[in-house]
Amino acid sequence: MMGQPVPQRVSPTTQPHRGVEGEAPAALPLEGATRAPPIAEKPVTKHPPEVPMTPGSTGLVLEEPLLCELSRPGRQSCSLPHANDVPTRAPEATLPAALLRQTPAALPEISEADLVRHFTRLSSWNYCKDAGFFPLGSCTMKHNPRTNEAVAALPGFAYLHPYQDSGTAQGALALIAALEEALKAISGMEAISTCPAAGSHGELTGLMVIRAYLQDRGDPRSRVLIPDSAHGTNPASAAICGYRVTQIPSGPDGLLEPSTVANAMSDDVAAIMVTNPNTLGIFERNIREICDIVHARGGLVYCDGANLNALMGIAQIGEMGVDVMHFNLHKTFTTPHGGGGPGAGPIGVRQPLAPYLPIPRVVKTAAGYGWDASAPKSIGRIKAFYGNFGMLVRAYTYIREMGAPGLRHASEYAVLNANYIRAQLTASYHLPYATPALHECVLTDKWQQPGGVKTLDIAKRLMDYGFHPPTIYFPLLVAGAMMIEPTETESKESCDQFIAAMRAIAKEAQHTPATLTEAPHHTFRRRLDEVMAARSPILTWHQLKG
Ligand SMILES: Cc1ncc(COP(=O)(O)O)c(C=O)c1O
Repeated sequence: MMGQPVPQRVSPTTQPHRGVEGEAPAALPLEGATRAPPIAEKPVTKHPPEVPMTPGSTGLVLEEPLLCELSRPGRQSCSLPHANDVPTRAPEATLPAALLRQTPAALPEISEADLVRHFTRLSSWNYCKDAGFFPLGSCTMKHNPRTNEAVAALPGFAYLHPYQDSGTAQGALALIAALEEALKAISGMEAISTCPAAGSHGELTGLMVIRAYLQDRGDPRSRVLIPDSAHGTNPASAAICGYRVTQIPSGPDGLLEPSTVANAMSDDVAAIMVTNPNTLGIFERNIREICDIVHARGGLVYCDGANLNALMGIAQIGEMGVDVMHFNLHKTFTTPHGGGGPGAGPIGVRQPLAPYLPIPRVVKTAAGYGWDASAPKSIGRIKAFYGNFGMLVRAYTYIREMGAPGLRHASEYAVLNANYIRAQLTASYHLPYATPALHECVLTDKWQQPGGVKTLDIAKRLMDYGFHPPTIYFPLLVAGAMMIEPTETESKESCDQFIAAMRAIAKEAQHTPATLTEAPHHTFRRRLDEVMAARSPILTWHQLKG
């Protein structure tokens, strides 16, 4: 396989990226409109990548006016039917005078065709999973099967109303109950709540459950231990839950050592939060011993199970001695999670903690499925209604479609892909931890730094090759980290293309470092001034006026 040519894709010589050399004119300013000041760009030099680029690299590359600039008086994108049977009432007759506008809101007036084109063009400026390889470590950007979408769009699911009588939503409740059972089987946990709306929300909910349980036991505690290899949301969730956070170091091999936990444990520690596999992609193989140490001192163990994509069908977190965990349905179970869209972060607990789970809970009685909101020890509601139901439908569809063997295969391929990339790149990039890893690999810029090239430059240059960059500068315990998570849905060919690009970039770092430090060269926007963007953000079009 090595030495084989990289499969041909769009070549920069046959299909130049417009905008790179100024051949595509920016859209003309509209008469009377106030345009955004042009973003200062560096003079462009073309640095053709040394391996073919992927088609996911860029979309349309013309400048795009703002909606307010496209606006023309009298245009509209919707036509509402005239309601003959509803009497007309003047606003003054309905609203208090103080709430009435003196002048109409200056909303953009735009036709449907222009509106659709505007957003379609904008969407093409984004890199998306459906366009190409997206190795964003810790995010599990795997393919979202279209079957999930088809099932979630079934009218019986899509048109449900949360206030609907549960007698008319039996299928939906049955699905939630079946998903709970599936998550129990996958994790080995004993009770599930699908209410939390994201992984971090699951963390907060899980910690609230732990707190309620400990308080009920008459043993409220104040501290949470979190290793430096945990996901960044863990300390944030613990702090929001009102706990003091103590960070504990992982060992030289990236593993949390039982002796470190034993030394940090005391009677005020409510819980330890362990991400497993951790943010280095390494399985915390001492987890059983760590659980025993924490339990012996009266604490509980929380597992951040968002990286379950490495374990499904292979190992059960509940079997490891963990008390509470969360799942990221939008990572492991193929529900979409681009653009911060709705996620789902169900939690699983051991039976003694089940009474504290959020309400409502799905219950089955002789009369059928229903909601139980009566649990007296529950932490209460943590979200309106019952979780992001559409995500639950997608995840359940995926689980049923894959079956137990399919889930196991998915994890095996996720681990195989990550290890393949790691093995192919360790001659070009520094590997900070040689410990075997699972679903992602972490490399650094240590070998490129002496030539003046940093992780950020490598990430920017990858965009020229048509790839979404990996997660960079995370995990924090690795200087100059590049965290690569290919996931199982990438073919060997796309892994090979990525490997070829990364190797070519390592060569460029050696021979022509400026190619990297000035990258990207082939994107619509060149490198942005991130300090300016952070210090003086322009957040509304009003600020662009004048
Ligand atoms: C290991 C891990 N834990 C927690 C989270 C937080 O999940 P969310 O972004 O849904 O809040 C993530 C997100 O990617 C994660 O990778």
